[in-house]
Amino acid sequence: MEKRPIIIDTDPGIDDALAIAIALFSEELDVKLISTVAGNVSLEKVTNNALKLLAFWEKDIPVAAGADRPLIEPLVDASDIHGATGMEGYDFPEPKKELLLEEHAVNAMHRVIMESKEPVTLMPIAPLTNIALLFTMYPEVKDNIKEIVMMGGSASRGNKGVMSEFNIATDPEAAKIVFDSGLPIVMAGLDVGWKALVYPEDSEKLLKMGKTGEMAYCLFKKYRGGTFGTGLKMYDSCATAYLLCPELFTVEETFVDIELAGSMTRGCTVVDLKGYLKQMPNAKVCTDIDGEKFRKWFLEYVGRCI
Ligand code: BDR
Ligand code: CA
Repeated sequence: MEKRPIIIDTDPGIDDALAIAIALFSEELDVKLISTVAGNVSLEKVTNNALKLLAFWEKDIPVAAGADRPLIEPLVDASDIHGATGMEGYDFPEPKKELLLEEHAVNAMHRVIMESKEPVTLMPIAPLTNIALLFTMYPEVKDNIKEIVMMGGSASRGNKGVMSEFNIATDPEAAKIVFDSGLPIVMAGLDVGWKALVYPEDSEKLLKMGKTGEMAYCLFKKYRGGTFGTGLKMYDSCATAYLLCPELFTVEETFVDIELAGSMTRGCTVVDLKGYLKQMPNAKVCTDIDGEKFRKWFLEYVGRCI
């Protein structure tokens, strides 16, 4: 099978780790580059975490560090959710530092995209700062990008603000550049993540499923303690799930804009499902997910990891 080339832009991050694992061990995806961006914790920490994960999986994928802060505002991280290092609760091997490129992530993405024979898919599961910089500095990459399949935004409520989701609200200006890019976008947002749950009985299965499952169990038990017993939300794995099994989702093509000015809603994805704004669609928005099928899919794909 011809593998689909992808770049994962990420801020690991507990749920990032699982989304990356599934992509790396899938037969369908060819991960060309992992680029990191400040988000859940600082750039230095998320880059270190990516290198630890690759050491853990013994995978030699190049890593490039990108933006250390959002375009305009200072970083407000999510260490309250992901722990001080972003990925605590498991005894990882030392980071595989030799995988870290000297190039900035934006330059590395540019090179990988321009060198690829097949159009590349971008899978951002973090604030969109690197992607916005890429499109601004190197607009020519757009001709060799197949689509952007992201975890971010929400068609309903938020988790950073009342109406705003973390990845978008951390860098709303970057999100605006990406949604205005003219490229095909798939948005798997927070509200589908709320239904992409791993239940306690699934967590017990994960624990016995090999070292990736055990690692996930330990990370989730430590830092998602509250939801460990009620259902863990696999936000970032929704982007991987869309790439590997799009039939899990209900999708609507619609216009999405980013609220930049709102005094209470800055960073909100304004998903215009009813066409009030009279704009052409610029995104496929996942409006629902089959939670039962997602559970099965998730366990099956984590089972393919070591
Ligand atoms: C998103 O925010 C981060 O904390 C998670 O890793 C995910 O990408 C969910 O809002
Ligand atoms: Ca993330």
